[in-house]
Amino acid sequence: MPAVIVVGTQWGDEGKGKATDHLGAAVDLVVKFNGGNNAGHTVVIDGEKYALHLLPAGILSEGVTPIIGNGVVIDLEVLFQEIEALEERGMDTSRLRISSNAHIIPSYNRLMDRTTEKFLGKRQIGTTGRGIGPSYADKMNRIGIRVQDLFDPSILRQKVEGALANKNHLLVKVFNKRAVDPEEVTNELLSYAERVRPMVVDASLLVNDALDEGKTVLFEAGQATMLDIDHGTYPFVTSSNATAGGACTGAGVGPTRIDAVVGVTKAYTTRVGEGPFPTELFGEEGDELRERGGEFGVTTGRPRRTGWFDAVVGRYASRVNGLTDLVVTKLDVLTGYEQIPICVAYDVDGVRVDEMPMNQSDFHHAKPIYEYMPGWTEDITKVRKFEDLPVNAQRYIERIEEISKVRVSVIGVGAGREAAIVRHQLTGA
Ligand code: IMP
Ligand code: MG
Repeated sequence: MPAVIVVGTQWGDEGKGKATDHLGAAVDLVVKFNGGNNAGHTVVIDGEKYALHLLPAGILSEGVTPIIGNGVVIDLEVLFQEIEALEERGMDTSRLRISSNAHIIPSYNRLMDRTTEKFLGKRQIGTTGRGIGPSYADKMNRIGIRVQDLFDPSILRQKVEGALANKNHLLVKVFNKRAVDPEEVTNELLSYAERVRPMVVDASLLVNDALDEGKTVLFEAGQATMLDIDHGTYPFVTSSNATAGGACTGAGVGPTRIDAVVGVTKAYTTRVGEGPFPTELFGEEGDELRERGGEFGVTTGRPRRTGWFDAVVGRYASRVNGLTDLVVTKLDVLTGYEQIPICVAYDVDGVRVDEMPMNQSDFHHAKPIYEYMPGWTEDITKVRKFEDLPVNAQRYIERIEEISKVRVSVIGVGAGREAAIVRHQLTGA
């Protein structure tokens, strides 16, 4: 089974890093196809914690070639910070390859991100402030800077000038800030050119050749289904396609080449930033789940909003991604609850709704209709076989499976790489 996409099925932070890392040993190439350093993976290997934002989790697996696809936006400063931090800890990052078509996040887009958020006031998105949105906007506006532009200084200068012509007016006349000097930005970008050069490839060609040779390629999504620019809770979303289709456009492979689409979900739900979240818990209940799950952002350190598992979201994610498998992470966090609610439908202004409402306002009004599953108290962190889980934990998983209409193939029961129950190999083996 050579081409596997891994996506988040909720609002991010489902533990994709762990799932992709888990698959890592079986794969030859890991391709990041969307997003940028708004992501945050924590991977624990032999008790060592690694926090990655931009680099694909596959960079930590031996023998894997990590690739940053054309669909990604790259902050070069962050790229080299992460590379250096890993090298300092003895990791080899020399296999990293970057698409020449990937876009760059110039420093002025970090400024634009934070400034525009401030101006949105009450309507702010709660972005990570990393310049992600403005860089994708520039891409669509056809004033983006791409990796290949680093190797033609005069073209780069022209493009930076072009992008700033408009932005400087905004910065000075609307936002009351200082104008950005195109020359300074150009020189800053050029200072990375020689270090980037050996990594730059035609990533689409590389990936398709690898598939032709029967190699296994993992496509790793940043963010998640409900943060997808098209299928998420717009406008409270990120600016790229985090769903499975994004793997094709963001890596340069055709849909006919994809063999499996793995969705990663927490056994409950979290969200950072603003936007609707029907199963959200508040007060002590929310705090308790946050503490138990250690739900604080890897990227911004923000406390995550917490809530119960939402099976309507699960089934929706299964549909828009065409999921073949589910990975359920952090089941151990639910140990000790007497009862565990699962949201099976919504009450929208007095009407029962079983599928994701097609209008934003309905979703904002949605109140969860819960089914209550009996809990368990046994420590499950050492369990490695499904049959060895407490019966109620097995039933919880089976219920998720039933309502989401996808088989649960892997269950995470702890932070470590090895703390997982594998029911079906994700690579189809
Ligand atoms: P942006 O991606 O920085 O533009 O932020 C847009 C929204 O997506 C905000 O609500 C962020 O908190 C959220 N977001 C972006 N990346 C991630 C992620 O990797 N995990 C969880 N939330 C994210
Ligand atoms: Mg994260």
